[in-house]
Amino acid sequence: MGPKMMAVVKQKRAPGARLAEMDIPRLNPDDVLVKVKATALCGTDLHIYEWNRWARNAAIKLPQVMGHEFSGEIVEVGKAVVDLKPGDNVAGETHIPCGKCYQCQNGQQHICGNLTLYGVHTNGSFAEYTKIPAICARKIPSSIPFKIGAVLEPLGTALRTCLEVGVSGKHLAVIGCGPIGLFAVAVSRAMGAATIIATDVVPERLQLSKEIGADVSLNPMETDLVEAVLNMTHGIGVDAVIEASGSVDALNQGFGYLRKGGAVGLIGLPSTPIKLNLGPNVIFKEARIIGIHGRKMFATWITMETMLAKELLNIDPIISHLKSLSQFEEAFDLIKTGKGCKVVLDPAL
Ligand SMILES: NC(=O)c1ccc[n+]([C@@H]2O[C@H](COP(=O)([O-])OP(=O)(O)OC[C@H]3O[C@@H](n4cnc5c(N)ncnc54)[C@H](O)[C@@H]3O)[C@@H](O)[C@H]2O)c1
Ligand SMILES: [Zn+2]
Ligand SMILES: [Zn+2]
Repeated sequence: MGPKMMAVVKQKRAPGARLAEMDIPRLNPDDVLVKVKATALCGTDLHIYEWNRWARNAAIKLPQVMGHEFSGEIVEVGKAVVDLKPGDNVAGETHIPCGKCYQCQNGQQHICGNLTLYGVHTNGSFAEYTKIPAICARKIPSSIPFKIGAVLEPLGTALRTCLEVGVSGKHLAVIGCGPIGLFAVAVSRAMGAATIIATDVVPERLQLSKEIGADVSLNPMETDLVEAVLNMTHGIGVDAVIEASGSVDALNQGFGYLRKGGAVGLIGLPSTPIKLNLGPNVIFKEARIIGIHGRKMFATWITMETMLAKELLNIDPIISHLKSLSQFEEAFDLIKTGKGCKVVLDPAL
């Protein structure tokens, strides 16, 4: 029996989770042990918490410590770790690469052929301590507060999408103002987008998008988006669409107001296969469709850290609540109902 810690644990193949005492993880030679300072909830955690169809089929082994977005301080390193030491502040990169496959050898570790996900296929970060392979422990400067460190993972996904579609000097639509969409609004504003049109079906989220820097915030329940966006762009359409809602209808509308030759960055995960009218919407339009799975390791992180160091990103308003580990049920409720946006847990509270 080794030392113990408190953690939010998914114990049963049914909805819910429990605050429980767990062993502090033991390290393999390539791991680091992190004292978690801040850890954020995301939609994936909610899926696992509710144990929906996706979670049931995601090869999750129980019991499991939940959570995957985190930052903290290294307290111990495995025998083979050379470039990190106790006292270093780190944020978690959730994509665990094998380091050997075709993609890993090709500078695409983030889509490794044997990819496993920290906090989905391993124990996670809703805990006082967590272990993670050193390759996934990204050292961050002490100038980045831990609560921001905890959201670098989703911020990076949004930032990378902005880079892939190209936003500077462009007219852009961001579909969905959840944390990822809002991060995309903040990043594209900082990168010099000409026009940012944000869409959501929740008024509070649209309000937040304005605070973050959207020029126009539209609700598809109230406005015909294709007509409105074409009107705003002299009948041409937007240069780029960033899809961060997962809504099939919203994506199809997006293709309707994308300009010929424009780019679509896909982040949102639809729960069903989608129908797309390829002739008019993609082929004759020469639309570039770019799927995004996480961050480039570690080019995306470097850009993100630079932009944070230069205080270019207006992302503080996206973090809506700070809670303790024991308040996890309340925290899940906040993201489920949309009353909260990014909810962060602090294990020291
Ligand atoms: N590709 C990746 O690497 C990656 C990583 C993390 C999350 N995701 C996915 O990205 C998406 C966004 O993540 P999030 O954490 O911001 O989720 P979220 O659920 O908090 O945000 C989605 C937002 O879309 C809005 N929405 C729903 N229907 C809409 C519609 N018709 N038009 C406009 N907005 C609509 C919702 O009200 C909500 O605010 C999710 O689908 C998530 O699964 C992908
Ligand atoms: Zn996440
Ligand atoms: Zn690999």
